[in-house]
Parts: sequence; C-alpha cells; structure tokens
Amino acid sequence: MRCTLTTEELEAKFERAQTELDLQPVDKILFRPFLGTIKNWYLPEYEHCLRVGLKCKEVAEETGIVEPIALYRCGALHDIGKSGIRKELLSKRTGWSKADSREMHEHIDIGCRMLRDLHDFEYWVILNSHTFDFHHPSKPTFSESHTERDKLYILNCARQVNLIDFYDAATHRLNDRNTPGTPRLLTDDEVRRVTTEQNMDCKHLIDKLYSKGIF
Ligand SMILES: [Fe+2]
Repeated sequence: MRCTLTTEELEAKFERAQTELDLQPVDKILFRPFLGTIKNWYLPEYEHCLRVGLKCKEVAEETGIVEPIALYRCGALHDIGKSGIRKELLSKRTGWSKADSREMHEHIDIGCRMLRDLHDFEYWVILNSHTFDFHHPSKPTFSESHTERDKLYILNCARQVNLIDFYDAATHRLNDRNTPGTPRLLTDDEVRRVTTEQNMDCKHLIDKLYSKGIF
C-alpha cells in the first residue's frame, strides 16, 4: 500500500516502531546522527529512509524470515550515504545517464564508511544489498570471520532491503526512469508490474505482500 504520510507523521510512526521493537537507548543515540545528516541534506531521501525502515519492519513481521529489528535498522540506514551525493543529482528527474548512475552508486561506499565500526551488521547488509540489483548486480562480499550461517542471514536481509527499497522508490520517485521523457509517479498497477519484472526471484514474496496489503 502506497505510503502517504507527512514527514511529521512518518517520524512519529518511526518513533513508535522503535518502542515496539524495544530499541535500546544506546541504539537510538547511534541512529540519530545518521538520519539527522540525511534529513538536513535532502528531505525526500530522509523520508525514503524512514519509509523503507518501517516497511522492513512490517515485511519481517509478516514473513518471519529475518528478525524485524534487524531489517528495520538496515532499511532505515540503507541510504544514509546519499548525504554525500550532490543534491542536483538526487533531484534529477530526466535524462539519467550512465555517468549519473556511476556517481549515484558512490552512496553505497559513502554509507558503508559512515556505518563501519558503529553498525557492523548493517554495514555488511548494506554493502551486499546491491548484489541483487537488476541493472548492476555486484558480487557478495563478506569478512573472513563470517560463518556460512552469517552469510546466509546477511544475504537474506540484503535481498529484502533491496526489494523494499525498489518498491518505495517505484511508488514515490518522480522521475522518468520508467516513463522516458515524461517524469511522473507510476500508477499502482505500474508499480506492481515493474517491481515484479525487476525482482522476479521474489515474485512469490511480492504477491504475498500485495495480498496482505503491505505492498
Ligand atoms: Fe534507497
């Protein structure tokens, strides 16, 4: 279901989610500077981070595949690296080029540098979330200390964050990437079609999320 909440409503819901997930005070303190940075840099990306975090919680609660708190944290922090990307690029609506894609791609490294040492788990999930990109998939990356079980958990979280990120962008981004030459928001039917087409490995999950009213 397309989210239509205002910034203030999103922030209130985000706060309530932290209480529901029993997020510890120390974790809240570690969240704030990252989300504050992106809020002060470019509000639409901040709202996107809040929506993705909240949707991650909902999806994890429904599927039980990974822990809601883990997915929520990864979703909320997944795009903080965009605070290092030019606003002109973040707000670009038409004429997206390969050079633009390369420049935008830097947000992953920027975000990971911001998270490393403070949010180790989120760091690995976000580093791997683009393993599943339709256009630019990257190879999974792990540390030598990760067990096979760690790797599976990280990849599961990364896959779901990537899908929810895609869905939120499809429902909210006003650009022409799916409608060349005419920047506009996609209709609900178009969102479902492109989300399914570009995430075919998750078709079963996507159908389930639609049937539950989560997508
Ligand atoms: Fe995103």
